[in-house]
Amino acid sequence: MGFDEMDVDTIWMDGEFVDWDEAQVHVLTHGLHYGSGVFEGARCYETEKGPALFRWEEHLERLFQSAKPYEMDIEFTKEELTEATKELIRRQELPSCYVRPIAYYGYNSLGVSPKDCPTRTAIAVWPWGAYLGEDALENGIDVMISSWRKHSSSQIPTNAKTTGLYVNSMLAGEEARRNGYAEAIVLNKEGHVAEGPGENVFLVRDGEIYTPALSESILDGITRDSVITIAEDLGYTVHDNVSISRGELNTADELFFTGSAAEVTPIRKVDNVVIGDGSRGPVTEELQQKFFEIVEEAPDEYAEWFEFVDIE
Ligand SMILES: Cc1ncc(COP(=O)(O)O)c(C=O)c1O
Repeated sequence: MGFDEMDVDTIWMDGEFVDWDEAQVHVLTHGLHYGSGVFEGARCYETEKGPALFRWEEHLERLFQSAKPYEMDIEFTKEELTEATKELIRRQELPSCYVRPIAYYGYNSLGVSPKDCPTRTAIAVWPWGAYLGEDALENGIDVMISSWRKHSSSQIPTNAKTTGLYVNSMLAGEEARRNGYAEAIVLNKEGHVAEGPGENVFLVRDGEIYTPALSESILDGITRDSVITIAEDLGYTVHDNVSISRGELNTADELFFTGSAAEVTPIRKVDNVVIGDGSRGPVTEELQQKFFEIVEEAPDEYAEWFEFVDIE
């Protein structure tokens, strides 16, 4: 669904609430030419206790951390960005939504050096259902191992959520969809499993859970962290500091993706190889159910994961 079909009308830009259609940048914006932006993708859930941003503190922290290697000074405090986000949700009366903060080098000059360019900051929120479709959450998706490799963390900080990185994700995802798959899994330069274009990947084998180590050129996913915590709380052993080979995907009992957009999405086939029995596996289902239960109920034991929007 395109933005024009959505009931949203306001974007926060550099301290001001502006009309959706007026939220424009100059065509010579540094970030547009060189991908010099950092961003976040978070969700506000409609919990039983009211709308709440999920793991907002961690998303903001990652935004500021992502800006560091690019020497980008975000000119707003975390408190200001939080208040702006909450106000966007309140003004547009959204019970649940996706939240996209972005900071980028703006308009002034187009040398590769951004030193003379201002840092601009914006936040948009919009309704966004299941990223890979409702059916994907229940029945799982087919994925393809991309012929594109992930950037190595020796080439670009892959733990920073940088706009320019996502052309790699776009290539991998579009290649997969051209070939009839819903999504890609991307290997890193060493040929180990890294992640999806916008998701972390998990494997279940003999009742234990595995996910590639942060040193495998992946994003330090916040949903990855949530699912690790949930799994451990449920009594599972989680190996989150390992390398996973391509072949191990084929022989896994279960595979699934995690992400703020993708939430917990089962994977039923990799390159036409059926994983497990080809449907959502029992461990995936248990973790997925617990994840959705938590974001629906905002229970006290996970209270620190929720930032309530406080609507009147
Ligand atoms: C490349 C990549 N890996 C993993 C993730 C999952 O991260 P998170 O759970 O923080 O959304 C994302 C989404 O932000 C991503 O873009």
